[in-house]
Amino acid sequence: MLRRLHKEQPESFEFTPANLEWAQKQIAKYPEGRQASAIIPLLWRAQEQEGWLSRLAIEYVCDMLDMAHIRGIEVATFYFMFQLHPVGSVAHVQVCGTTSCMICGAEDLIAVCKDKINAKPFATSEDGKLSWEEVECLGACSNAPMAQIGKDYYEDLTEESFGKILDDLAAGKVPQPGSQTGRFASEPLSGLTSLTAHNGTAHETNASVTLATEKGDTVARITDG
Ligand code: FES
Repeated sequence: MLRRLHKEQPESFEFTPANLEWAQKQIAKYPEGRQASAIIPLLWRAQEQEGWLSRLAIEYVCDMLDMAHIRGIEVATFYFMFQLHPVGSVAHVQVCGTTSCMICGAEDLIAVCKDKINAKPFATSEDGKLSWEEVECLGACSNAPMAQIGKDYYEDLTEESFGKILDDLAAGKVPQPGSQTGRFASEPLSGLTSLTAHNGTAHETNASVTLATEKGDTVARITDG
């Protein structure tokens, strides 16, 4: 798939004061001369702020990192985590369509996207809140089928649970990420046979899901500021 900058570009980009302060702290983590290493988190922050990456946003980040603009464009166009076109204002849904997920029902999930969001990938829902695309393996194959929404993975999905997640997002709710069938992590569907240490821990969910739930910022929710 060709990943190109969007034809219609905004006239300006700059970080909000809070994001600028955050970005400067990230840059300070790297030794002098290695600031370019902060390119991924800064581009991600710019995307969280605007919903997608415009040419000016990429160039702005490159200028902060003293990098040639083309190097930033190379990074932004290489990684599918970066959206180069406007997407849903609440969330862009990335459904894995690779082998494990395909065998376990990814095509059904894509049908839900077509039904609830738009028949075409990257086009937004009527209210502009959601968009979707099919992506390659996201590395959660043992919890297939799955989708990435915002920062988090939603796993062990069914048409029903996935549809409810999309409905909740459109209604301004923040669904709980992780397994939607109650699996703690990637243990066998029939239950643990070894490494049972997490039984009896303080949390019902694994550390990733617990943190995401506590922070509550798993999706961008641009319209909510
Ligand atoms: S095949 Fe879907 S996460 Fe790997």
